[in-house]
Parts: sequence; structure tokens; C-alpha cells
Amino acid sequence: MDQVNGIRRGLSFSAILLTFLGWALGSALGADGPLPPQNLRCEYLSNPLGIDVRQPRFAWGLDHTARGQRQTAYQILVATQPGLLDQDKGDQWDSGKVVSEDSTQVVYSGKPLASGAAYYWKVRSWDKDGNASPYSRAVQFEMGLLSADEWKGQWIGGANQLRTEFQLAEAVARARVYICGLGYYELRINGSKVGSNVLDPGWTTYDKRVLYTTYDVTPLLQRGANAVGVMLGEGWYKARALLLQMNIELVNGKRLSVTSSPAWKGKDGPITSDSVWDGEIYDASRETPGWDRPGFNDAGWVGAQVVKSPGGVLSAQMMPPIRVVDKITPVGLTNPQPGIYVYDLGQNFSGWAQLRVKGPRGAAVKLRFSELLYDDGMINRENIRGAKARDTYILRGDGGLEVYEPRFTYHGFRYVEVTGFPGTPSLDSLRGRVVRSDVESVGSFAASKPLLNQIQRLIRWGQSTNLHSIPTDCDQRDERMGWLGDAHVTAEEAMLNFDMAAFYTNFVRDIRDVQGADGSLTDTVPHRYGSRPADPAWGTAYPLLCWYMYEQYGDRRILEEHYEGLKKYVEFLRTKAPDNVLRYSYYGDWVAIEPTPGELVSDAYYYYDVQLLAKMAGILGKAADAQTYAQLATQIKDAFNREFYDAKRGVYATGTQTANTLPLFLGLVPPEAKEAVGGKLFNDIVYQHDSHVTTGFIGVKYLLPLLSRSGLSDLAYDLATQTTFPSWGYMIANGATTLWELWHKRTGPSMNSHNHPMMGSVGAWFYQALAGINVEPEGVGYRRIRIAPQIVRDLTWVSATVETVRGTVSSSWTHSPGMITLEVVIPVNSDAKIVIPKEEQMSEVAVYEGERVVWEKGKYVPGMDGITGASQGTDGSITIEVGSGRYAFKLTGQ
Ligand code: BGC
Repeated sequence: MDQVNGIRRGLSFSAILLTFLGWALGSALGADGPLPPQNLRCEYLSNPLGIDVRQPRFAWGLDHTARGQRQTAYQILVATQPGLLDQDKGDQWDSGKVVSEDSTQVVYSGKPLASGAAYYWKVRSWDKDGNASPYSRAVQFEMGLLSADEWKGQWIGGANQLRTEFQLAEAVARARVYICGLGYYELRINGSKVGSNVLDPGWTTYDKRVLYTTYDVTPLLQRGANAVGVMLGEGWYKARALLLQMNIELVNGKRLSVTSSPAWKGKDGPITSDSVWDGEIYDASRETPGWDRPGFNDAGWVGAQVVKSPGGVLSAQMMPPIRVVDKITPVGLTNPQPGIYVYDLGQNFSGWAQLRVKGPRGAAVKLRFSELLYDDGMINRENIRGAKARDTYILRGDGGLEVYEPRFTYHGFRYVEVTGFPGTPSLDSLRGRVVRSDVESVGSFAASKPLLNQIQRLIRWGQSTNLHSIPTDCDQRDERMGWLGDAHVTAEEAMLNFDMAAFYTNFVRDIRDVQGADGSLTDTVPHRYGSRPADPAWGTAYPLLCWYMYEQYGDRRILEEHYEGLKKYVEFLRTKAPDNVLRYSYYGDWVAIEPTPGELVSDAYYYYDVQLLAKMAGILGKAADAQTYAQLATQIKDAFNREFYDAKRGVYATGTQTANTLPLFLGLVPPEAKEAVGGKLFNDIVYQHDSHVTTGFIGVKYLLPLLSRSGLSDLAYDLATQTTFPSWGYMIANGATTLWELWHKRTGPSMNSHNHPMMGSVGAWFYQALAGINVEPEGVGYRRIRIAPQIVRDLTWVSATVETVRGTVSSSWTHSPGMITLEVVIPVNSDAKIVIPKEEQMSEVAVYEGERVVWEKGKYVPGMDGITGASQGTDGSITIEVGSGRYAFKLTGQ
């Protein structure tokens, strides 16, 4: 995966390079001004196929040769034919020149969009001086099936391979397949697999919503005979059902459809058993070559059966699909017992193994997966509980090399045990395949302390390999659920590392799908494990994910769409808190070293939820609700303090780190108690625990940010860089390649996943505190940015970049005695406050940008391009206000 990300990073760097070349060229040619908008998105996706949002939202990135630039107007053209755009005509929508600084979340408002139709669009923008940019390149988006009655097919099943053939009298002008194959499907046309999606469609609450995928199959069809074959796996649905609609337009303009029906034929294929958790058994001797091509003799096949529909509405899958994103070459192969071979892939990840084998027909090679080894080199699978996690391949035995990888399962593993291999396997007999939702990497973080880079690496592996259409808690044992607590604590970290916008848009809908009539939610989404109602520290994922979407992506629509659901949820909590204290709790600060009373955790989130709802109401102009919920929040705050604050001891409840952190972080602590509680927290960390965390995964999300916010970044850094128990470094010192579920080192049958992303919430602190990249509350979606790096202890440099919805934001600093440098990039159409800290003892501070001074002798020195002001804070730091552009600051002092 790192390879793939590397390539992507490479790509985006070359994109940046091109931009610079563009600038250089532009200036050389005297062509100053706004460059064409780039990176056009529709509903957060580039060139999406099959979207079912009737008023999709557009976004584009802006480039400019000058600093301090922003958009003052835009014009969007949407056309039904690409040729029209070449003539600058938008027959579907010509927005005209719209005076607006919005370059994201711009809502389509042209003629109604037609089901199944493709549209082409481009955009230009005007800069602050009124210069128009050239138009962007044209891109496209295409609508899915917008009404239920367009689906003419029936849900069919009966066998795990289904096929049909059809004739086409003419060549094909355009063809689309809309498919929902549950639990998982593989679609094949005329002998080839269609698309690169695997483990499709995403897991949803099937009786509420099922996802269909749209494929452009034009190039796969031919005049004459054609065949469609679909393999079905049980997946999360635990049954098999297919609905398929192929809409074809011939060159002579004729339209026809091929749809799933009992006229299809079925026969169980080589997969004789498949399960998400247990693995797949594939008997290659049962293969029926040619079954997915026309002219196949399907005499032994029987008519497909009509099966029950899953019940939910058909909804377009509008998020990055699950794909094989990388290949891993094993780093070791051992033979701990006769006939038993163990591969070490060197990295814990989600996916499967590709096996390459030659041998006799009927030989069965068994692959078993584990995260751990025993000392004797055998695989240790005690921690995967009920999951069988094994794949079996039975050879075809035709004398050639047989290459197998499963389709309808995945595993979380680092080691693969191979038994039954005919002959002796070599390192080349097996490859790891990394499989996960193919979200794009948007962030990078690196620092002078190698341990931080190692933690960052673990976070990224753990986070990305736990994205399987939903955010999962883990990827190996009999679980892999969308536990809501894990989902919200990791969300900010995930959004800074990966493009999560479309993924969470879908997941937030998944959450709404489980909402009961009483407003309650469930611990896991879709609901398989855990309770209804959710533990409040889990259910809070609903408001929190919406809120993070608003902050990071400026997504106001998600607040609009979910406001009623969120309000219902808060009202549900309210029924459980007649005296304004919400006490029910199941997990609280889960996996803590020092437990905190669950009631305190639940009640703190109750306050958080109500406070967020009040804010959202304000944003959406619902003044009465804003007031009601702000008042309720105040009542909860008072009750919280009455219930949990121990004024005598100056602590909350038992005084654990989490018990004091939550109220401090959320602003629940009365002003007069802040010093006492903060002091107790400090003492607990430093003196009681020698600068170690004792929290579970809830507390740790807020602890380091709280310390940084309180001017204690050095202490936060101490926690982040510990190597003894309990710490992230302790996991690494003990061989972790992804983060563990527990701070403890456990390898037995107890609950101890070795790929649990939840402790990775600290990754957000890397970006937000150490690199200092933050969204200002009044400028969500990085409209207004605050770069406020924390320069701590022995760190000599940090460098981080985030591809935000508005473009690249980056912050890179170095620190050497007497000097701090800070390079930042602020995208066009954003502005930023850049807070450059100074060494404590420094006086006579001066700040330069490039060669020119911007701050000297206690004063702002104006005149620098892009810089609009500077001031000094009470701590001596210098805050510089800038518009877009690239800046290189240097702060020196005596
Ligand atoms: C999961 C967690 C989850 C927890 C709830 C575990 O089994 O793996 O990460 O949040 O249950 O208590």
C-alpha cells in the first residue's frame, strides 16, 4: 500500500511540480493571473458514474500565479454533449457569472438531471482583481437510476454462478450495468471481470438500503452473441441474491435492456464455501471454463430462482470501492514442522494471499492466517476467536501453473501458514494482496523523531486496512464491525490522512439507517453486535461525524440532511436523563488502564451532543432550536458538575486522566475549578504515572490535544514518544506493525486484536498540534486556516501536508538554537493566521519572509506581498496574517 500511496504521492508531487512549472512559464510569458481550475469533483468524487443525488455538489481547486488570491466569482457550464463545452455552451446549466467565493459545496441548479444520463462540466473563476481564469478541463458525472421502477429485473439466486446470453443486432454505442449482487458479486462479461471493485457492494443495513454499482461496459459488448456471468458470495448478507439491469444503446439508436430473471441459468461453481470470517474453499476441478462467454453449453445448468428482495431501497454506491490496492512480497519463509510452511509478510494488513502452485488434480492447499507466531514459529491464532480465517485451494491439476486468490472473504494477518502444498513452496509461491476501501491518501506527516514516523506508519496501515466500506474495529477476528466509538475517535486522524468525504457521507447514512423510531442508535452499524440503544460514547458518532464533515469539508448539506435524525437522537438521550444526567453506559472509556466511571463518560458525551446540536441549529438558521439546546447544554453542565465534581479534591469522579480530561476538553469545568483540575491532571500524568497515559481509547483522543491547548505540548509529546508500557512506542518496541487494541501486550485467547485503529486518534494531534494545521471555526472547510505549530523538546523539524477540499495546505518547520523556520502553503481562496512560536528565553524577536523583514522591534513591517498583518501574542509568539501562497518564514531572536 505504501507503494501505491508512494505512487500517488509521487503523482500529486508531479502535479505540484507541473503547477510550479505552470507558474514559472506563466510569469515568463507574462501570463499572470488565475490558472484554470483543476481537481474537479462532483459529490466528492472525480468523474463519478451512477450518482443518485438530484442536486449534486461541485468542487474545484484553484491555482494562481500571485499570492493573496481568492475567487470572487465563478461560472459553471454543464452540457449533455462534450462538444458543446468546446464551444463554451452549457445546454443543461449555464450558471452565468455567479459572484461568490465558494469553490466547494456548490450546488447544481440547472435543469432536472435525467436518470442514467451523462453530463459534462467545466468551470472558470474570477480572481480578486476581476481577472477570469481559462476554463478548466471538462470532466463528467453520470446519474444512476433515479426511480425504483426503472429496475426491470428480478432478484434471483439459487446457485453461486448465474449466467445469461443475448444477441445484439448492431454494434454498441453505450452500455451500462447497474448491479447489486449480495452478499458479494463478481460480474463477468464475455470472459472478463468487469471493473476493479472487489468485495462489492458495501455493507449496509440491507432491509433499509442496498448499494448498487454502475459500470460502463460499452467496450466489453460486441455485435452478435454476448454473455453475462455473475458469481455470488454470501458476504455480510449471508445469502445470495442478484439484481442486474444492463441498459444498452446500439449505434442505430435502438435501446434494449438485459435484466436478471428466472430465464437466467445457475449452477454452483468452484467456490464450495465462502464466509467473510472463515474464508473460502475453491475447488478448481469444478471450474467450467467458458461459462462467462457466449456459446457455452449450459445444458446441465438449471433455471435461476426468484429470491426475496433484501427490502431496502436501491441506492447508488458513491464512495471509493474496495479494491486490491497493493501487493506484498513475503520477507520470510520457514518450515517449523514437516509439511508446514509459514510465510511472514512483514506487515499486518487486511486482504488475502495469492497462491501460485503446480501439482496433481485434487491436491488441497490450505492457507491459514494469523497476526502472531508462537516462539516455535507456528502461527498463533488464539486472538481471532471464532473466525476460521482459512482458504483452501483444490488444484485443477492440468500441469500448468495455477494462480489462485479468493474473491469473497478477507483476512487480517501478517503470517500465512501453508499446508498440503505439493512439493516445497518458495518465497515466490505466495504474495500478499492488500484489500481495502480505495480512499485516496491526502496527508503526509514526518518529523525528526523516528518514533513519531513509525507511529504514523502504524496509524496509516491500521486506519486504511480497517476501511471496508464501513470503518471497522479490526480486520482479523470474528468481528470486523462498525463499532461507532472506534469510528468517531479515529475520524479526524482518518480525514487528515485520507480522503474520507465520500466514505463518511455513506457511513453517516448507514448510521441513520439503524435509527429507531424512538431516535435510538446501535453500538455497531450496521447492527450486528452490541446493543440498542448504543452506549452514548458510541452513539455520539452520529453528531460527531457530521460535525467533522462540516469542519473538514465545509459540508453543510450533511447537517441539513441529518438535522432531524440528530435531533431525534438527542431527544432520545434526553428521555434517559430526566435529571439532566445521562448515566447509562456499557463500555465507557473502553480498554482503559485506570477505569473511569461510565456514567461520567456518557454524560460528558450527552453534553457534547447537545452542544453540537445547538451549534448546528444555529448554522442552519433554526434559532429556536439553537436556543433550546444551548439552554439544555447549560443545564447538563450544571448537573454534570453537581454529580461528578469533587470540589474538596479538585477532581472529577475518581480523578483518572479521562475523568478530568473530558470535562476540561469540553469546557464543562467552572472557571474557578480549572486550575485545580488541570493541576491534578498534570500531577497524575507526571508524578503518579511517570508521564504515561492511563486512559482507554476515549480519553486518549482528547488528552494530548487538551495538553497542547493548555500550553503543555512538551508533556503531550512526552506521552506520544514513550516507549515503555503503556504507550504507542511500547507496541512498536514489541514488534507491532499496526496499532493494538490494548495497551498491554497480550497474545492469548483474550480480546487482543493487533490491528485496531482506535488508539491512532493521536494521529490528528500530529497534524493539528505538531505541524499545527487547523481549521478556524469561522472558516470551515479550510476557508480560514490557522497554522500554529508546537515546537517541542528535542524535535528539530516537522513537515506535514494535507490535500484539503480547497487544495494543498502544508506546514514545515525547523528549529535550531536561536532560529525557527516555517514554510507554509495556503491554497488560493483561503487565508491563514500563522502563529510562529519563539523560544522562551528569546527577546528582540524578528521575523523574515524570504529575505524581507515582516516583524521587527515589536512592530509589523508592512509591504510584503500576500501578508496583511502581524501581531505579538502574550506568550511572545508572532501571528502573521496571510492570503494564499507559499511563504518561507524565519524567526530569530537574542
Ligand atoms: C470492539 C471495540 C468496541 C468494543 C465495544 C470490541 O469488541 O473491538 O473496539 O468498541 O467492543 O466495547
